[in-house]
Amino acid sequence: MALPAAFRDLAIPAIASPMFLASGPDLVVEVCRSGLVGTFPALNARTSDAYAAWLGEIEDRLAAAAQAGQRPAPYGVNLIVHKSNPRLAADIELTVKHKVPLVITSLGAVREVVDAVHSYGGAIFHDVVNMRHARKAAEAGVDGIIAVCAGAGGHAGTLSPFALIPEIASFFTGTIVLSGAMSTGRHIAAARMLGADMAYLGTRFLATRECMVPDAQKEMVVGASADDIVYTPKVSGVPANFLRQSLAAAGIDLDQPKHEGGLDMASEAKAWKTVWSAGQGVGSVREVLPAAELCRQLIAEYHAARREVAQEEAAASPFTPAA
Ligand SMILES: Cc1cc2nc3c(=O)[nH]c(=O)nc-3n(C[C@H](O)[C@H](O)[C@H](O)COP(=O)(O)O)c2cc1C
Repeated sequence: MALPAAFRDLAIPAIASPMFLASGPDLVVEVCRSGLVGTFPALNARTSDAYAAWLGEIEDRLAAAAQAGQRPAPYGVNLIVHKSNPRLAADIELTVKHKVPLVITSLGAVREVVDAVHSYGGAIFHDVVNMRHARKAAEAGVDGIIAVCAGAGGHAGTLSPFALIPEIASFFTGTIVLSGAMSTGRHIAAARMLGADMAYLGTRFLATRECMVPDAQKEMVVGASADDIVYTPKVSGVPANFLRQSLAAAGIDLDQPKHEGGLDMASEAKAWKTVWSAGQGVGSVREVLPAAELCRQLIAEYHAARREVAQEEAAASPFTPAA
C-alpha cells in the first residue's frame, strides 16, 4: 500500500472528494474528525481572501479536535490548474502559506505546483480519466493519481475501474485512488481489492447535513437510481454526469446541440447551480445523514466486508489442482 506518511493513520482509506458548490469547512471538519480525509475545492470560497479564511477556520477546528484528544485526519483542497482560473496563483500562495496537507489538482499536472506543495512537505494528487493524463501526472512528479472512472459524479471518465486501475498500477508506484460510483464501505473495500490504495467518494457526501447544496438536491440524490444519471456535454460543453430530474427541471433539451469547445469556468459555475451533478452511486444513497454518522457507517461497512472475505478465505477448503 503506497500512502504518504500523513495518510497511514486513517480510520479507513477514503477521501470525501471535493465538490463544487457542495463541500465547505463544516463537511471537511466533520469528515476529518471521523478519521477520513475531508476536502473542498478552493473555488467554493468566493474569493482568495475567503479561501484564506476557510483554511484558517479548518486548521483551528481540527487543532481544537486534536487538543480534545481526537486524532483528526489530514484535510485537502482542490485547485483547478487551467488558464481560465484567474485565482490560481493567489490560491497556490495561500495553500503553501497554510501548508495544506493534501492538494488535489485538476486539469493541469504541472511541475511548479508539485514543487510548491513539496516545498512544505505536503502531498499532491492529480485526477485523471485516461492513461495519457496518468502518464503526464506521473512525469510531473505527483504523489498520487486519482483514476476518475465511469459513473463518477462531476466530470467523470468513461473507463471501467477494472481497466484503468491495473494499467495505472503497472507503471505508477505512488498512491492510486479510485473514483466513481462508490457509496458504501463495501465499495471502499472493493476498491482496495482492485488494487487502489484509497477510495474517493463524492455523491454519497452530497446527502449529508453539512453539505452546502440545497435540500432539494439532497432529496433528489436520495430518490434517484443509476438509471437517472445522464452523461452529457450539453450543460457546459464538458461531459459530466447529471441527475436527469434536474436537467428536465432546468429545461435542458438533450437533443439540442450545446456550445462546443472545452472548459469555460464562468459557464460551468452558472450551469452547475441549476443543473445538479451526481454519480451512478446514487442508488446506494438512501438517506441524508450527519457526516460523522455517515463516516461511522462507512467504517463499519468497510470492516464488515473485509471480515467477510477473511472468514470465507479461512473457511474454504484448499483446492488442489488435478495433476
Ligand atoms: C456535485 C459535484 C461536484 C463536483 N465538483 C468537483 C470539483 O469541483 N473538483 C473536482 O476535482 N471534482 C469534482 N467532482 C468530482 C468528485 O470530486 C469525484 O471525482 C466524484 O464525485 C467521485 O464519484 P462519485 O460522485 O460517484 O462518488 C464533483 C462531483 C460532484 C457530484
